[in-house]
Amino acid sequence: MELTFQKPFDAHLHLRQGAVLSGYARRAAAFFESALVMPNTKPPILTADDLKRYRAAITTAVPNWRPLMSFQIHSHADIPALKAAGAVAGKYYPAGLTNADSSSCQTLADFDSVLAQMEEFGIVLSVHCEAPLYSEEVRHRVLDESLEMSVRFPNLKIVLEHISLEREVEAVRLAGENVAATLTAHHLTFTAADFIGSKLNPHLFCKPILQNEKHRGALRAAAVSGNPRFFFGSDSAPHLPEFKTGTAVSPGIYSMPVTLPLLACLFEEADSLTALESFVSVFGRRFYGIPETSEKITMIKKKLKVPFETDGVVPLCAGAELPWSVKESEEK
Ligand code: NCD
Ligand code: ZN
Repeated sequence: MELTFQKPFDAHLHLRQGAVLSGYARRAAAFFESALVMPNTKPPILTADDLKRYRAAITTAVPNWRPLMSFQIHSHADIPALKAAGAVAGKYYPAGLTNADSSSCQTLADFDSVLAQMEEFGIVLSVHCEAPLYSEEVRHRVLDESLEMSVRFPNLKIVLEHISLEREVEAVRLAGENVAATLTAHHLTFTAADFIGSKLNPHLFCKPILQNEKHRGALRAAAVSGNPRFFFGSDSAPHLPEFKTGTAVSPGIYSMPVTLPLLACLFEEADSLTALESFVSVFGRRFYGIPETSEKITMIKKKLKVPFETDGVVPLCAGAELPWSVKESEEK
């Protein structure tokens, strides 16, 4: 069985910086025609110059690829300059909640004037939807604030990133047309039992943390529902092996090598293979206002043996065999 469709758009991707960038970028470009690249590099992308330099580094690695750029929101963000440099989204990290957080503000309301300018200049607000396990309260606050902003700034498009809770799915369903959410293949596939069941698997440690069946069920239903405000963002977030072992393990899953095969399994299981293209190629582009592409990808029902290491990183599903693969990647 084969499935050919518009080459996907990844609405949430980490490419890192420095020597490792080119391998990660080439891997992503093999499967995705375009991607929204996250700004939590070290140092983070804050200004128009940061953004231009980072885009140049990515396009040097993959010259014919289309990275869409984002910046980390901070109170001095120069929105007109960022827009002129090609910024598509501004990422809001609740204080203390990412690997490269430079924000000192606590709530979205602290960025009122920045958000007003983003609305005016047509820049999407991307919300890092996560909070420490021990603080449901913080987590709900991030969601509530985002919804409040979607009403206050009705022309501001808002994407709740890597949602993982039933409550978040419901909130997006009930919110205005300007609110959407990304879903990752790992939150759709795995639960906390896979991560910390009989043994702890550091390669399934990500933020937000994997949840239980109830939440995964809600995410799956949203992904296959055909609701255009739920679309794919891989949150592929590679960390070198030394950061995935020992006493201080970094959150982040290198899902890129297997993310499309995992989604094919999932959509097939839900008897919804025909809905896969909308989820990975159509809805995200539409929400972001990105043109469609004539490039295609072909998925084939042929076993994929996932290596134990790729691009210097242990990928998601290392050592496993998946029933679907991407045809193009094998021909390269
Ligand atoms: C991300 C990373 O490694 O950059 N990790 C993760 O578990 N999602 C953090 C982020 O998305 O900010
Ligand atoms: Zn991320």
